[in-house]
Order: sequence, then C-alpha cells, then structure tokens
Amino acid sequence: MAPSLFKLSVLFNLLTNFTNWSQNGGNVEFSPTSCTRIECPSYDLVHVGNGFEIRRYNSTVWMSTSPIVDISLVDATRSGFLQLFDYIQGKNKYAKKIEMTAPVIVQIAPSDGPVCASSFIVSFYVPKENQADTPPAQGLHAQKWGTKYAAVRQFSGFVKDSDAGEQALALHDSLLGSKWSDFIEKSRVADPTSPYIVAQYNSPFEFENRVNEIWMMFDMEDGYASL
Ligand SMILES: *[C@@H]1O[C@H](CO)[C@@H](O)[C@H](O)[C@H]1NC(C)=O
Repeated sequence: MAPSLFKLSVLFNLLTNFTNWSQNGGNVEFSPTSCTRIECPSYDLVHVGNGFEIRRYNSTVWMSTSPIVDISLVDATRSGFLQLFDYIQGKNKYAKKIEMTAPVIVQIAPSDGPVCASSFIVSFYVPKENQADTPPAQGLHAQKWGTKYAAVRQFSGFVKDSDAGEQALALHDSLLGSKWSDFIEKSRVADPTSPYIVAQYNSPFEFENRVNEIWMMFDMEDGYASL
C-alpha cells in the first residue's frame, strides 16, 4: 500500500474510532472491523511483543481447498476463494448456505513444481454453528485444529505477492532471541509442511481498515505451564 494511502486509512481509523489502538514499540494493532460484523475464531492473547503478538486458538475448524500450485499468492487466493465462496453459497453435499466468516487463510509451502511456484491451501473458517457437522464438498476437505499457538504480525492494505515473504521475514526477525522463536522452530522441524500462513479479514470490496496477518503456528505440549 502506498504510504499516503496508508496515512489516509490511519486517519480514517482515528476519525471513525473503529479501531482499538494500542501502541507497542511503534507498532499499531488493528482490530479487524470485519469481526464485529461476521464471526471470527476466538483466541486468548498470550503475550504482546515488539512487532508481534502470541495468541492461543483452542479449537478451530477450517474448510480447505486442495493445494493450489501457482507462482502468485494473489492468484491462488482468488481461485481458492471462489471455490470457498461457492461452498458457502450452498455448493456442498447438504446444499446448505453458510454464513461468511473471517479470516480466509492461506497456508504457504514451497512446491516441488515449477521453479518459483509455491503450494497454497486456501481455507475458510467454519462458523461454530457448522463445526460439529461441517458439510462436505467435492474438492474441499475440513481441517480440525486442536489447541494451537500463533505468533502474529499485522499489516494493512491489499495483499501483494511481495508482501507475504517480506512480512513473514519481519515477523521472524521480531521473534529472534525469544522463547517463541524456539517453539516455532521446534514445531517447524516436526511439521515442515507450512512455514507460515497469510490471514486476510476483508473482502476485495472493502478499501478502508484492511487487516491482514502473518501467522506462524506452533504447539506447546506442556501448554500453560511454560507461559
Ligand atoms: C481456551 O481454553 C482455556 C482452558 O480451558 C480457557 O480458559 C479459555 O477461556 C479458552 N479460550 C477461548 C477463547 O475459548
């Protein structure tokens, strides 16, 4: 996003008071306004760091596409989103309409395919109401997550292909030297399939207050004890 546009959206946030502000080490935290209108997964805030925060998601269910091999995150997100949009509109085995939620997440992994291509799994957060009996659909599969921790970095604007890597690197750097970095490293060795996730909270038709996040997921076997 161009700096002037960013400033404009910051000003807009201030004027409309839509956003909770909290200052930490020069980083502003946006609370996605979409989550006041549509359901988002709830989490506990475990720690606020300089440029990142640590969240605990107790249990979430996601409806996911098959891996989409592409050189563009933006293109892969669009094609994944279209499948998921059909799904919530009723293109599923129960012909059931499902409420829109946020965020849509993209799990990114290096691919064995063509040079520079990555593999993207695009997922829709299944509302609590539909979690017990999530309608199946051809080409999609449900992911049920148990308790998971996420190191999170936020950024605004429309996600560009260059953002994911840059923002993930910034998150990685901000975590260096912390115990969270060690937890993430351990989890990555155990499961190298998706080094990070891009979470997007807004539809393409919203121009203001756009919130995106990089998530690096990790597990902690001894849970609360080590916090
Ligand atoms: C997650 O689980 C813990 C332990 O059972 C509980 O204290 C907490 O309120 C739960 N958090 C959410 C967001 O549901």
